[in-house]
Amino acid sequence: MKKVIHIVGARPNFMKVAPIHKAIAARTSLQQLVMHTGQHYDAKMSDVFFADLGMAAPDIHLGIGSGSHAEQTAKMMVEMEKIFLKEKPDLVSVVGDVNSTIAAALVTSKLAIPLSHVEAGLRSFERHMPEEINRVVTDRLSDMLLTPSRDADANLLKEGIDPKRIHLVGNVMIDSLLSSKEKADQLPTLKQLGLTPRAYVVATLHRPSNVDNPKLLAGLLSTLIHVAKKVPVVFPVHPRTRKMISEQGHGPELEKTPALKLVDPMGYLEFLSLTSQAQLVMTDSGGLQEETTALGVPCLTLREETERPVTVEVGTNEVVGTDPVRIREAADRVLSGNVKKGRVPELWDGRTGERIADLYARVLGVEQKRAFG
Ligand code: UD1
Repeated sequence: MKKVIHIVGARPNFMKVAPIHKAIAARTSLQQLVMHTGQHYDAKMSDVFFADLGMAAPDIHLGIGSGSHAEQTAKMMVEMEKIFLKEKPDLVSVVGDVNSTIAAALVTSKLAIPLSHVEAGLRSFERHMPEEINRVVTDRLSDMLLTPSRDADANLLKEGIDPKRIHLVGNVMIDSLLSSKEKADQLPTLKQLGLTPRAYVVATLHRPSNVDNPKLLAGLLSTLIHVAKKVPVVFPVHPRTRKMISEQGHGPELEKTPALKLVDPMGYLEFLSLTSQAQLVMTDSGGLQEETTALGVPCLTLREETERPVTVEVGTNEVVGTDPVRIREAADRVLSGNVKKGRVPELWDGRTGERIADLYARVLGVEQKRAFG
């Protein structure tokens, strides 16, 4: 029996692997294993996602945890090599751009195991971001490059990747969003937080390029305080950001603005129930730029660039940079009702997992129970 191993490690991986895993089980006779590296280990950064997405516990857990980039990536590689040698997968499937992704790509390709990268071809063209290095190296090593949008295909072609390896499959994260929306809508999140639909802002910040830079972090927090003077702001705080806020002594200043609600990281469904009814989302996350576009909710991206330009060209996203003056102006404009309208990009239709399952079955020459029609 042909075997696929899926790699997950960090929060944004889980909602990408869940639909692929489900579609493979439903449509093919492939055997599949999920390997969790343990890059994210807090219950709120990992376990809750398995429950919310209806995923079984990982088959293999490496329990690696945090560390410097070299430490974390190297530890993952050592453990993965042992597992791949034992399990002998016919294909390793990686998603996204986190350290778990690049670790698996390096080990897989050196063992001459076919490698597939889901969410290939995205580029911020900023090599100071660890995610960009992870994307470039993973794509270089991948046998199959599965892209979410045509801009990603264009980037790969420019880098000289053989077009036969590139497969435009759509955005798999949107599969999870569409299949979870109804459940999320039933949650009492807004009531619990005392919020009214379309009358609050959701904020997230976790990019090292923003939160590890004290000056930038202070400026970004000041914009959230500004917005919270007009409408309530819910800010689920990533552990990295929580640490920096406390180290930089921002706690007392933030406490003076009770309408800026700092809360713990949320589960997938709870967070979706919040973002889908927001008036505005302010974020430096990549996935959230895509989710807001799919939901038709205005998004201000607090970075100088995006590796997801389709969310700007087609969707509701605006990249407003990190200058507090510009962010405040953009937020005031959106809150006064002047919003950018968007559409849902091509193939962000909830069926990307099925296209991936069919592709894997075809490539590995296994029987398909049902072909994508
Ligand atoms: C990682 C990804 C990033 C992704 C993000 C989503 C890389 C290079 N970065 O960044 O692309 O957008 O995940 O969250 O892979 N920590 C905890 N509990 C956890 C996990 C982390 O407290 O469960 C703390 C630790 O102090 C750790 C820090 O957060 O050192 C950063 O974690 P790490 O996995 O290194 O990177 P993220 O910033 O989460």
